[in-house]
Amino acid sequence: MSSARKVVVIGTGYVGLVSGVCFSDMGHQVTCIDTNQEKIDGLKEGKMPIFERGLEDLVSKSVNVGRLEFDIDMRDHINKADAVVIAVGTPIKEDGSANLDFVYRVVDEIIQNLSKDITIIIKSTIPPGTCDFIQKKFDESISQYKSSVVSNPEFLREGEAIEDFMNPDRVVIGCDSDKKEEMKNFYQDHISRNISVIFTNRITAELIKYSSNSFLAMKIAFINEIASISEKIGADMDGVRLGIGSDSRIGKKFLNPGPGFGGSCFPKDIEALVELSDKINADSKVIRSVNNSNKDRIQEIANNILAMTEPKDNICFLGMTYKANTDDVRTSPSIDIIRILLVNNRTNIKCYDPMGIESARKILSDKVTYHNNIYDAAEDASLVVIATEWDEFKDIQPEKLSNLMKSKSIYDLRRIVNMKQFIEADFKTKVIGLQDA
Ligand code: UDX
Repeated sequence: MSSARKVVVIGTGYVGLVSGVCFSDMGHQVTCIDTNQEKIDGLKEGKMPIFERGLEDLVSKSVNVGRLEFDIDMRDHINKADAVVIAVGTPIKEDGSANLDFVYRVVDEIIQNLSKDITIIIKSTIPPGTCDFIQKKFDESISQYKSSVVSNPEFLREGEAIEDFMNPDRVVIGCDSDKKEEMKNFYQDHISRNISVIFTNRITAELIKYSSNSFLAMKIAFINEIASISEKIGADMDGVRLGIGSDSRIGKKFLNPGPGFGGSCFPKDIEALVELSDKINADSKVIRSVNNSNKDRIQEIANNILAMTEPKDNICFLGMTYKANTDDVRTSPSIDIIRILLVNNRTNIKCYDPMGIESARKILSDKVTYHNNIYDAAEDASLVVIATEWDEFKDIQPEKLSNLMKSKSIYDLRRIVNMKQFIEADFKTKVIGLQDA
């Protein structure tokens, strides 16, 4: 029997939609479900609800070969499926724990409408122990059918999600041992390419996800603290990164200092892991310190900007998204830094971002001004801040800025600009990790 399976994916965010289209590209028959009618209508017309490199082409390819469809109601599809993938959001709650309402709502709807054996694959990021709880819920609710709950966490970076799905360092599957052979069918393409598929139990797979994100965030918070030290003692930050990253136990990736980590995952997953450790009375001092260090970083950068400017100055802020190649501003350090500036009497902030302007406007509304390009935002500015590593910021021309700015200062929070040119153009320069001239 071919390894092709019928899969229903619930949730068409960057995890659900990317997982669905990649499963269909690997040969499975996929139906993506979302209760948001506008999103589904758009997808049926080929309009993507999110920006992901390569997504539009892959969706149209899979739709054209008849292996991908979209609907708003799971009820017509789950009883024809081999598996249902749950990929709905688990936003953070006030107390730092993960809000599982959307996950449980989907679980209840499956239970109410199921009339066959099925595999429930959970990609949503949920606290360790939740999959076992959901397995118990299925066992107690529908004893006449066999429902197998599987934890299959995603490790997708926004903007690179298709690449990360199709060419991961590893696939993690937490399931009962009698489901292992069946689960190999969903990842036959990866197995055929010798990509590691790690089988374990559900709670371990859930903990792998939280541990992975918390470790990566800790690594970023760590290199940001080292950048702060480097600035003060005049060390060479690139030398430090090469010197430690060359140790295979540390590795070269995620050692780029910046304004702090943001996004919809790192901050929330760390909070959830801390909340869990408090609940089970486990020690989590290191994990707890990561978000605190990140907040200190954002405050330190805002303080530097305050020291470089006067209340009357225009500040040009380049980059509103939490990283390049996305339109996402969730927990973006840029937004947090601007908020601190605004309450400290820096109210003339001119913003530009290649993709994140509309998302930023929803949060900052008319507290700042928005511009269509670098140079409009830089006009009459006393300081240019480079907050996100968009390619177009790497080639900023000092001469063009010189003619536009009221006074010539630049603060590079991502170490992406050729500062030598700016120094030669008589700019006052500040770079993360580099001692002030
Ligand atoms: C992250 C994880 O990488 C991914 O595996 C998980 O599934 C979801 O969360 P994402 O949030 O999309 O992905 O972005 P990522 O590229 O990891 O960057 C996260 C934050 O760290 C961004 O704010 C980014 O600017 C920052 N970062 C990343 C650094 O400051 N320095 C680095 O070297 C890398």
